[in-house]
Formats: sequence, structure tokens, C-alpha cells
Amino acid sequence: MVLAPLLVFFACAAGGDPAAGDTGAGADSHDEACADVPTLDWDNFGHGFLVASCQGCHASTATERQGAPEAVVFDTVDDAWRQKEAILRSAAGDAPSMPPRGGVSDDDRTRLKWWLECGTPGA
Ligand code: HEC
Repeated sequence: MVLAPLLVFFACAAGGDPAAGDTGAGADSHDEACADVPTLDWDNFGHGFLVASCQGCHASTATERQGAPEAVVFDTVDDAWRQKEAILRSAAGDAPSMPPRGGVSDDDRTRLKWWLECGTPGA
């Protein structure tokens, strides 16, 4: 249900190079960047993304943390929003460091930004 419009919107955003919009973005360009993006939240994107890409090492229950700090856990929607800046910096910035061995698509990194930069805080 969500995926088809998502991909259409992504195609539009990709044409404008979504990464470029980030440098020195003021309030206006933020509103512009968020105006046409799909509404993403914990239920339709965030939870599934974090489980698939991050929780293998970061879940509070992870048995093989592979060095992931005990405090960096994404079990709940509140955990995620509390660490919004760190998540964006490590997984959606220009030089993502997470996951350590990569494997997250550019599309998902863009969706991550749409969720945490354009979505409703806490959702
Ligand atoms: C294979 C294991 C593994 C996976 C998967 C993984 N991480 Fe990490 N993460 C680590 C390790 C190890 C560290 C500590 C070393 C470091 O900071 O580079 C860490 C540290 C972090 C930190 C704290 C340091 C910082 O950069 O702020 C954040 C935030 C983070 N990870 C986010 C994520 C996100 C978001 C994902 C999913 C997109 C993810 N990680 C996936 C292993 C992992």
C-alpha cells in the first residue's frame, strides 16, 4: 500500500538530489524538502528499518553486539526519537558509518531522513 507512492515520491526527490538540500538548509528549505515527501513513522517504516538494519547489534536483547554501546539501543519509538541526531548522523549523513559494514540502500537512507526530519516527533 505504502510502497508505490513512496517510490514515486522518491523518484521526484532523487531528481533534485536530496542530499544536496542538506547543506546550510534553513527553515524554508526544510519545509520545502519535507513538503512532498510521504509520511513515514515508526509503524510504516522506522521499526522495520531499525530491526532489519541496526538491531542485530543494537537491540537491548542482542547477544552479539559486536561492540555496539550498551546505551545505543533502538527498541522503542521513544529510543529512536531520543537518538534522532545520532541516528541521522551515523546512518543518513554524507558519510554514513552505520551499519559498520554497510548494506543499507540509498533509498532507505533517504527514507530514514524523511522519517526523522519530516515526520511527527515521537511517531
Ligand atoms: C554489525 C553491528 C552493528 C550494526 C548492524 C549497527 N551498528 Fe551502530 N554501532 C556498532 C558498533 C560496534 C558501534 C561502536 C563503534 C562506533 O561508534 O563506531 C556502534 C555505534 C553506533 C552509534 C553511536 C556512535 C555514533 O556514531 O553516534 C550509533 C548512533 C549507531 N551505532 C547507530 C546505528 C544505526 C542507526 C544502525 C542501523 C542503520 C546501526 N548502528 C547498525 C555496531 C553496529
